[in-house]
Amino acid sequence: MYTGLKHLHSFWPYLLLSLTLIAGLVFLSKWFRKKPFNAGDKKLALFTLIAAHLQFVFGLILYFVSPVVKAALHAPDMMSDPTSRLYAVEHIATMIIAVALITIGYSRAKRIDDATKKHKTLAIFFLLGLVLMLSRIPWTVWPSFMA
Ligand code: HEM
Repeated sequence: MYTGLKHLHSFWPYLLLSLTLIAGLVFLSKWFRKKPFNAGDKKLALFTLIAAHLQFVFGLILYFVSPVVKAALHAPDMMSDPTSRLYAVEHIATMIIAVALITIGYSRAKRIDDATKKHKTLAIFFLLGLVLMLSRIPWTVWPSFMA
């Protein structure tokens, strides 16, 4: 189970990060160009939200079965060792905030009628979420083909 989940959690970010970047840039450009909010925008926002939630679920299960996390949590110098701190605390905490931002942006935008404000809300929350995700990816082991 661990290996399958780890592969899934390692592969899914390609989709999630690309979708979040594309969605963020599309909404940013439509916000500045004052474009109408169409069905494609609605789908893009929804797919990004679903991708983020799935990555979150894979990660949450992984957290409880991962030997890497177990070792990090039991490391005597957990908070002073950057790798242990990243796996035990920083990755999970930052990703929870990132997924929360994407969720808040999506649900706020849903309640807004004005297209420009809708695009603005989605662009800001999605791009903030993206920056947070990028800030706490374990870059030393990902992408796996580079490690
Ligand atoms: C939602 C955005 C997230 C992204 C983009 C993300 C991305 C990643 C990436 C790229 C890795 C490295 C995978 C590899 O070794 O090839 C990783 C590892 C890990 N992530 Fe996440 N993650 C996210 C959320 C979470 C959450 C919410 C949790 C926990 C609740 C979590 C738990 C873990 C764990 C435990 C590992 C280490 C797995 C291991 O090597 O045993 N992740 N994550």
